[in-house]
Amino acid sequence: MTKKPLRLGVNIDHVATVRNARGGPHPDPVRAALLVSDAGADGITAHLREDRRHIRDDDMRRLKAEIGLPLNFEMAATAEMHKLVTEVMPHACCIVPENRNERTTEGGLDVAGQQNFIAPFVRELTDVGVRISLFVDPEPRQIEAAKAAGAPVIEIHTGAYYEACATSDPTLIKTELEKIKSAATLADKIGLEVHAGHGLTFQNVQPVAAIPEIVELNIGHFLVGEGLFMGFGEAVKEMKRLMNDARSGMLV
Ligand code: PXP
Repeated sequence: MTKKPLRLGVNIDHVATVRNARGGPHPDPVRAALLVSDAGADGITAHLREDRRHIRDDDMRRLKAEIGLPLNFEMAATAEMHKLVTEVMPHACCIVPENRNERTTEGGLDVAGQQNFIAPFVRELTDVGVRISLFVDPEPRQIEAAKAAGAPVIEIHTGAYYEACATSDPTLIKTELEKIKSAATLADKIGLEVHAGHGLTFQNVQPVAAIPEIVELNIGHFLVGEGLFMGFGEAVKEMKRLMNDARSGMLV
């Protein structure tokens, strides 16, 4: 199997979290996007949440207008977001479940249970030219449902793997990693492009980056946090180095 290149999408939500803590314009997520673009990021991801706790509507418009990289617009499947996506026209759109009280996106989208609602949503945005990905847990029935819904891409939720890594229990880590591997194999086999993300760090990224079917990782919180210590651009460069090394078989 020829190795597919692996892209890094940098999620800049938490630059906006820091900005919003004071209410002014600083630090600007668009400036952060331009910086990580120079550092070698392959795409910019931003999640416009219903409560606008970090990224805001105007950030999306400015990101689209001012950055040269593909923009991945993460959002819930609502009429309000549909309207904004058709106005901003990002390169891609990742549909995530959203719960007002959650701290972050806690689980994958239940595509299997909401097929009647998700499939038309996917079709409408696909028809206007936006590439749709569905954020799903690494479960075969959700992956098959994503295919049936007409999405060309899935993003595998790596949150359970992140939680397993936090326990340092090798059996648990292996179990969660195997679920991601099997999900990626199945998705690729049925013709879906495979992305992954959530909770990835310098410490846990390589086993995921080494999965050959995965072609994009979306990483945010760790990179923004690590940026405080080593600089955001340097953190992105180091993440890319780890991803590339894992991909070329040089796991460290
Ligand atoms: N991918 C999706 C679909 C997400 O919802 C998130 C979190 O917003 C990420 C990737 C990035 O996760 P993290 O910030 O933990 O790296």
